[in-house]
Amino acid sequence: MKRQWLGRLACGAGLAALLAGCAATPPVQSGSAAPLVSPTANSPEALLARMSVERKVAQIIQPDIGSITPADVREYRFGTILNGGNSGPFGNDKGPATDWLKLADEYWEASTAPLADGEPVIPAIWATDAVHGHANVPGATVFPHNIALGATGDADLIRRIGVATAVEIEVTGLDWTFAPTVAVARDDRWGRTYESYSENPALVTKLGAAMIEGLQGRPGEPGYLGPGKVAATAKHYFGDGGTAQGVDQGDVNGDINELMSIHAAPYPAAIDAGVASVMASFNSINGVKMHGNKPLLTDELRGNLGFKGVVVGDWNAHGQIPGCSNGDCPQALMAGLDIYMVPEDWKALYASLVRQVKDGTIPMARLDEAVLRVLRMKQALGILDGEVKPSARANGGKWNLLGSPEHRALAREAVAKSQVIFKNAGILPLKAGARIEVAGRAADNIPQQAGGWSVTWQGGGDLTAADFPGATSIWSGIAAAAKAAGSEAVLAPEGNATSKPDVAIVVFGEQPYAEFVGDRKDLAFRDEEGLNLLKSYRARGVPTVAVFLSGRPLWVNRELNAADAFVASWLPGSEGAGVADVLFGAAQPSGRLSFSWPKTCEGAPLNGPEGALFPLGYGLGFAAPRITLPPLDETCAALTHDTGAVWFASGKLGARVQAVADNALLPDLRGNGNGIVVTGVDRKAQEDARRIAFGPGAKITLSGPESGAAWRIAYQVNARPAGPVTVTAGGKAVDITLGLSVAEGKGWREMVLTPACLGSAGGKLTFASTAPFAFQISEITRDEAAAGAECSF
Ligand code: BGC
Ligand code: BGC
Repeated sequence: MKRQWLGRLACGAGLAALLAGCAATPPVQSGSAAPLVSPTANSPEALLARMSVERKVAQIIQPDIGSITPADVREYRFGTILNGGNSGPFGNDKGPATDWLKLADEYWEASTAPLADGEPVIPAIWATDAVHGHANVPGATVFPHNIALGATGDADLIRRIGVATAVEIEVTGLDWTFAPTVAVARDDRWGRTYESYSENPALVTKLGAAMIEGLQGRPGEPGYLGPGKVAATAKHYFGDGGTAQGVDQGDVNGDINELMSIHAAPYPAAIDAGVASVMASFNSINGVKMHGNKPLLTDELRGNLGFKGVVVGDWNAHGQIPGCSNGDCPQALMAGLDIYMVPEDWKALYASLVRQVKDGTIPMARLDEAVLRVLRMKQALGILDGEVKPSARANGGKWNLLGSPEHRALAREAVAKSQVIFKNAGILPLKAGARIEVAGRAADNIPQQAGGWSVTWQGGGDLTAADFPGATSIWSGIAAAAKAAGSEAVLAPEGNATSKPDVAIVVFGEQPYAEFVGDRKDLAFRDEEGLNLLKSYRARGVPTVAVFLSGRPLWVNRELNAADAFVASWLPGSEGAGVADVLFGAAQPSGRLSFSWPKTCEGAPLNGPEGALFPLGYGLGFAAPRITLPPLDETCAALTHDTGAVWFASGKLGARVQAVADNALLPDLRGNGNGIVVTGVDRKAQEDARRIAFGPGAKITLSGPESGAAWRIAYQVNARPAGPVTVTAGGKAVDITLGLSVAEGKGWREMVLTPACLGSAGGKLTFASTAPFAFQISEITRDEAAAGAECSF
């Protein structure tokens, strides 16, 4: 793992040279405006020499656009800003692309307004999670998630995706992406497995470097970080993919050299590729949080790996260091962080850092070092030298480049190359002239095929196709391909079109999720919609193709048994037509597994052929001999073994619990149903609770395994109900209006609903309100012990 310093050889052009403190000329940017500062006065060192402690501190504070206004930027002069997955321009998470550019201009103008105090004017830069295309922005090309790109194994394809993504980011006026994720996911229960290219460090290393090169250009070559390029981030350093039981932000245990050989492996190549920033990880290593870990964050990353760029923190992760809070944490800077990602508590952090520099808790030299790195990154991006406002840059506002036909064609190519065929009893490619029925709720469902980090943070929920202008669903792709082949395709989500088709394609899979919400205790795929469709076609004598959407390997033995052909489609993104390209044989199936696929559902880490149903590299081509799999074992203890006691906790529904508002399914208790709006809110952790808002007469039902005698519900009421609210369980409606009214403004409380007031508790819980009303819930559990007691609120 030890390596030579990069800086020694880096005094050419570009960021590596700039970061090493060489006097290189930054790439020239387009635009006609006069330089903001004269060329002699704008070296990072010269700028630093003219800055007050306050302005220096502002350079290392990164607030979220949801918590600052352009006026705040003008007043404080933050160095960088971000939009989190749930923030869009002007408070609108789904804000149109034009609003992104408009806001970028506003921030730019605020950060470059002349200063009367003689300090230098330093433009702010804006970072976003463009982790599979610039996918926060409606209308952008949404590329397949990394797990799918891993299955292509095609570094040049990934480099080209980086090129396209950078251009789309620049169109909307942003400068920097928090990508690529170079996690080596080793426990697929982790909800970010799909952000990982592979469980194999060598493949992650190769593809991560290719993405960086695409986004930034090549150090030492013209155009590096110039027009059409953005700064990239290798994240999350390190161990994100190695936490015990795949728990997000958890602890990684083991011998440090062994851990580094897997989880730090992608970083040397990322650094050699000139990556501008590295994001420190939320996780700890052997009990020590990375954000406070000087030996790893400074001695290893700077000393041994030779990284010269910016170390940016993750979302309030500094606040998790013992003794720190979000607004007070000198420890992180001292450990080696250069920028604090402090979405909301930036005022408190700004005040504490200024104080700590002035009282000597933080040496000025450490602050200066961090600020210099930020300034060098800006210099490398060209924004210290006459850069113009975002809309006036090379690609700024060129809307024809956002989701352009060329970029969409590239995404479609990536989708086609990532399809992995597990099983094919001579059905694929589909025959010309066939009558095809396409079933499953996922078939015509762009939010589901896009997955998490798509327009919204968790994806899915109340998103619709309208939030992805220009996108093509898997169904639309099949329909077009069928037409071209002289075949006939009908969409029958419930599989009930009348005439008997020649073949049925059943599209099904995981609902969208993102970090920590997507963590699972096992790898059982529970949703039986697809399974039932496959079985009912088989019963009618119709051959089937299963198209499985997932962000990770899952136990699908039942579906594999029930289908005649099976394709792992991952999370393809906006260009669903790439799936049809393989199904109809327009593209050869070249996708091969970059993760081992499990034989059993329990979910213990599987990183090799032993215990795998399909090993790394598996995937059938059309020329493969007709392989019929032997019947697979369908037993899975996890499917039946949960007691059903926890119905909702830590932002997640229990294993066999469903939430429904009329006919709308609310995965993980989130989304909209008729008159019901459920949104994530924070109680102890990000989005670990829900706000449930009722329109008049609306109701929401949770159903799950019958067990326990009473309900315990942690809840909070901010404004008392304006009309009766009832809860129905075990068939009996109980008026809880009084209890909820008494709870108004009293913070988090517990409601215990026992058989004494409910009759029998049953396996169903329905809340209904006659008038508009909202309350918050953080936990719902079933409890034997409370059976005999009275109800309480
Ligand atoms: C995510 C953000 C998101 C926020 C919501 C964070 O962990 O990274 O992008 O907006 O949580 O609370
Ligand atoms: C995630 C990062 C992301 C950041 C900003 C964090 O919660 O871990 O991957 O870049 O939020 O959205």
